[in-house]
Amino acid sequence: MKTKIEDYLREIESYSANGADSLEQFRIRFLSKKGIIADLFDQFREVPGPQKKETGQLLNTLKNAVQTKIEQYREAFEQQVVTGDSNLDLSLPADFLEPGTRHPLSLIRSEIVKIFANIGFTVTEGPEIEDDWHNFSALNFPPEHPARDMQDTFFIESDPDIVLRTHTSSVQIRTMEKEKPPIRSIFPGRVFRNEAISARAHCIFHQVEGLYIDKNVSFTDLKQTLLYFSREMFGSNTQIRLRPSYFPFTEPSAEMDISCNICSGKGCNICKYTGWVEILGCGMVDPAVLENCHIDPQVYTGFAFGMGIERIAMLKYIVRDIRLYFENDLRFLRQFVAAS
Ligand code: DAH
Repeated sequence: MKTKIEDYLREIESYSANGADSLEQFRIRFLSKKGIIADLFDQFREVPGPQKKETGQLLNTLKNAVQTKIEQYREAFEQQVVTGDSNLDLSLPADFLEPGTRHPLSLIRSEIVKIFANIGFTVTEGPEIEDDWHNFSALNFPPEHPARDMQDTFFIESDPDIVLRTHTSSVQIRTMEKEKPPIRSIFPGRVFRNEAISARAHCIFHQVEGLYIDKNVSFTDLKQTLLYFSREMFGSNTQIRLRPSYFPFTEPSAEMDISCNICSGKGCNICKYTGWVEILGCGMVDPAVLENCHIDPQVYTGFAFGMGIERIAMLKYIVRDIRLYFENDLRFLRQFVAAS
């Protein structure tokens, strides 16, 4: 019996399974109720006393050898099912996954949101498809007023009352209609204008509108808020200047320039040798606009401003063609990383 067991041990050692089926055959042959091991245990009863100890140990070794072999192969076969690869090598280095980068406009949008969040401005969004009231009338653009020509509107053909919003100022109105002052919010979003596409203009672009309504809000508050914003965005040496302008929804109105961040005001071709670049429009909210939103202009005042995200991004990253932001060329997009 001893030699028989030793023969089986050698057989088990040299056995290799070429698949789950052959392994199952092997298991049945040795471990089933009528298999070799059960048979040997039966015969073990007849082994004479003095040989019992040695034979018993050998028999246990045989049983363990079969079980170990089966377990080894089972693990290997399971791995293959998971990976579908019989030549799996877990020590190989993994493929490099390129993480991608955020779009530059999205980076600038986040930066603007962060700068204003630090002084208590919340973020609200409004619809891109607007009605005439929110995009024009409530903002003090009378019907047929030439100011409407400032913005080349996309109308929905079947309904002249419905437009693609030409600016995010429409969200000012929606917010003032819904909320009671104090209101301190910015409204980022996409806007649409029927303009010829060129290096400087696009028919779809992005704006951020700002609105602050409370008691005793003055032009000084507006100026200080915009100075803070400009320095956070373009560096602490940035200067601002406000030039009188006209918008129907603000009175007084202004356009704001920053000292050219490229040449620090010395003069270059970005600022056309003036040392200044325009970045936004702003003003004190016209009392008629407050009234349109049922806010009492005797009690409340406020300021508003609006800027183009592409414009800020072009100045900050020195990109001279707005179309690059919409072409999705990865060679362009990969160059931008978030400011920490
Ligand atoms: N809505 C203006 C535009 O698209 C920008 C603007 C100017 C927004 C002055 C304002 C503002 O809130 O006060 O050109």
